[in-house]
Amino acid sequence: MADTIGNFGLLRSHHCAELRAEHVGSKVTLCGWVNKYRDLGGLHFIDIRDKHGLTQLSFEEFKGDFSILKKCSLESVILARGVVRERPENARNNKMDTGAVELLVSELEVLSQCDIDAIPFLPMGPIDASEVLRLKYRYLDLRRPHLQKILQLRSTTALRAREILINEGFIEVETPILYKSTPEGARDYVVPSRVHPGHVYALPQSPQTLKQLLMIGGTDKYFQICRCFRDEDLRADRQPEFTQIDIEVSFPTQEYIKSLVEKMLIRLFDLEANFKMTMMSYDEVVKLYGSDKPDVRYGLKQMIVTDLFTDSEFGVFANPAKNNGMIKAMFIPASMGTLARKDLDGLTDIVKPHGGKGVAFFKVEKGELTGGVSKFISKEILRELESRSTEGKGDGIWLFNADTDHDVVHASADAVRRFLARKLELIKEGYAFLWVYDFPLLEWDKENNRFAARHHPFTSPKKDQYEKFLKGQKEDLMNMPAEAYDIVCNGYEIGGGSLRIYRNDVQDQMFKILGMTPEDTKRQFGFFIDALKFGTPPHGGLAFGFDRIIMLLAKTDSISDVIAFPKTTSATDLMSQAPSEPSDAQLKELHFKWDR
Ligand code: AMO
Ligand code: AMP
Repeated sequence: MADTIGNFGLLRSHHCAELRAEHVGSKVTLCGWVNKYRDLGGLHFIDIRDKHGLTQLSFEEFKGDFSILKKCSLESVILARGVVRERPENARNNKMDTGAVELLVSELEVLSQCDIDAIPFLPMGPIDASEVLRLKYRYLDLRRPHLQKILQLRSTTALRAREILINEGFIEVETPILYKSTPEGARDYVVPSRVHPGHVYALPQSPQTLKQLLMIGGTDKYFQICRCFRDEDLRADRQPEFTQIDIEVSFPTQEYIKSLVEKMLIRLFDLEANFKMTMMSYDEVVKLYGSDKPDVRYGLKQMIVTDLFTDSEFGVFANPAKNNGMIKAMFIPASMGTLARKDLDGLTDIVKPHGGKGVAFFKVEKGELTGGVSKFISKEILRELESRSTEGKGDGIWLFNADTDHDVVHASADAVRRFLARKLELIKEGYAFLWVYDFPLLEWDKENNRFAARHHPFTSPKKDQYEKFLKGQKEDLMNMPAEAYDIVCNGYEIGGGSLRIYRNDVQDQMFKILGMTPEDTKRQFGFFIDALKFGTPPHGGLAFGFDRIIMLLAKTDSISDVIAFPKTTSATDLMSQAPSEPSDAQLKELHFKWDR
């Protein structure tokens, strides 16, 4: 017995990439799009296409009315019935899966004629349509095999994730979409309630509180492939609604979660069975790469060399060196390639968006210091730089980022590093995974002069920090480590999580530190704080950014390639024109006043 329904009950007997020599002589029916039409002096051929591939239709023995072929404009949907015939030796096409055969059509039906004069672009072949047009007519773009393959990859990857998690004893639980604010650092999307005038639901930025409540509810091991909604500035790897593989577990240690992550990565990325992630603390990774999500497939590691320049005559270095600032150095060995003067000067533009004022450099050529700021660098300093360098020494270019603000130095060094990797073509194929741990619990929001949660407000400080945390001294809180970790791959943060606060006094204190009044806390999270009082297992988890995983697997750097119906960077759906204005009737029902 066949284990699938296959083509039974469909209008077709085979798909368009199925026919082979073994089918010669069979009567078959194919359905699909007109991909190509040729009239070779009275010999008519159509290539019929579906997501699987192409088959050549021949009309050599067609007895019907040939005028029907006029309706077979490109991208029309047709049904063709006939007998499979072996192609003559010289007419075989090795590039087509079905290239050894063709269908001798006896019956042809045009199921849906394509208006070829109106179609905005043809999806097959080289596409010169703009991104805007392709998003507006997304369903045409989706006909491309490339996008169909990605949808397939998404589906297969989700299945693999489910298999592993179910096998490890997790169950998938759905959580509400119409809910209350679940802060992850973005703005909420809100939905007004018709039955409760003046009240709104918030769409979840993640199911964070809900999965914790499931642990309190005894669920033990939860996962969900879920949608998250965040109103934030969008980028090439960010969409306003995106998908997570969301995971939570009771009684975990970080080791458990790391092992689970490794197990999943092995399966999702087809890695060696004994694969282990590289582990790095947050401090270490920022020191070496200037970023908490570096691409570690290439070197260009940085070193902090502030101490070498306290007596420098070069103001750009002396000022931060004397005023608790930072100077970072990066070495490009000559063997890695060189940079033209134009590129070196251009580095200033690379660091500007990050607050950097410039990038100082000097070259070592045949052992001699030349160019840039070389007149301020003694041989002793060079010797010291070289002795500290993990990236080689001798001839090459030394680059420096200096500032009184450490964050500016790190961000600038990271931007320079990423620019150089592309310029010098240092990025290798393959995947490099990092487990970054010991993230700071809080960050200082300079604009609003208060603390913000680095991850989210439910992340636990390290156990040995509880006493200090409850005391709440600013200096103690400034660099307090958290039980928080990220998973980084090739420069993308593909997942993050933490062990959670499970004591209600600690959770209360967290909201207080974040500047919430007791009334705010009660109104927004009263139900949650309450739940912590009634028997809460220690718990923790993480969420993978599913779309980003698919981006890496599909080797694309645009998140919209991996989402069937993506939004633009201004969060609009060009196809349906969402968001759109509500009707007067809707506004009335929702008790909304609106200045049109
Ligand atoms: P976090 O906010 O780090 O953690 O999100 C987890 C992962 O989701 C992906 N991601 C995104 N992908 C596409 N578009 C976006 N706008 C977007 N924002 C985030 C990233 C990120 O690593 N509740 C916690 C998880 C936890 O603590 O268990 C959370 O949502 O790959
Ligand atoms: P200037 O003194 O402005 O002529 O700069 C001399 C060199 O120092 C130039 O190469 C600048 O790009 C570089 N420079 C300027 N500001 C910084 C900075 N904050 N960090 C590193 N290099 C800098």
